[in-house]
Amino acid sequence: MAENGNGMVTLTINGVDVSADPSWSLLEAIRFYGIDVPTLCYVEGLTPYGACRLCVVEIGSGRTKLVASCTHPVWDGLIVKTHSRRVMHARKMIMELLLARCPGSKVLQDMAAKMGISEVRFSPRHDDCILCGLCVRMCEEQMGAKAIGFVGRGVDRKITTPFDMRSDLCKACGACMYICPSCQLRCLGPEAKDPLCGGCTNIEPVCIWEGSDDALCYMHPCVACVKEPEKV
Ligand code: FES
Repeated sequence: MAENGNGMVTLTINGVDVSADPSWSLLEAIRFYGIDVPTLCYVEGLTPYGACRLCVVEIGSGRTKLVASCTHPVWDGLIVKTHSRRVMHARKMIMELLLARCPGSKVLQDMAAKMGISEVRFSPRHDDCILCGLCVRMCEEQMGAKAIGFVGRGVDRKITTPFDMRSDLCKACGACMYICPSCQLRCLGPEAKDPLCGGCTNIEPVCIWEGSDDALCYMHPCVACVKEPEKV
């Protein structure tokens, strides 16, 4: 990866030559220059995983290829198109496939609407998960718990706790539910049978944050009011 005099690399984004720090991902470079590329499985603070492919862009000249920009590096001379006809076609299809898996997801519906999608060409499957892995990374990298992970392959791939049982590693913080773009389909309430489903509603909040009537805290001790939790 050749660098210019100031330690930056030069690439071309949508026909404009720009500089980027060689440590950036392609998505970071694109966003640095104010170009909006949709992302779903990418969240700042979590390791990029490249699962949803919504951040797809076209790279190269002549024989180009589509890559997930959130996991792709930048290099000198890289030619990138973020909104070519090929990119928009692929991105739209990916969005429709995601929406077909979880048609009830408000997050996906909003993203699709923003992309001008009003119709989905694929049959709805009503899965409760798009396998974006956000909950797994959140649990491990931000909450330090590692209570859930991927198991299985192909159509049997899913996210669950070890041995599909409620895990002692789970702090019941609700962070997995918070970050999940389709969790409204997973939150089945107190009667949920699956260990992930309704995880946050199966336990009593330890306190109610004084600043707001409906801010329930599931952390122990309570991190919102920073005082001894009061049982409710
Ligand atoms: S945001 Fe890049 S693959 Fe999901």
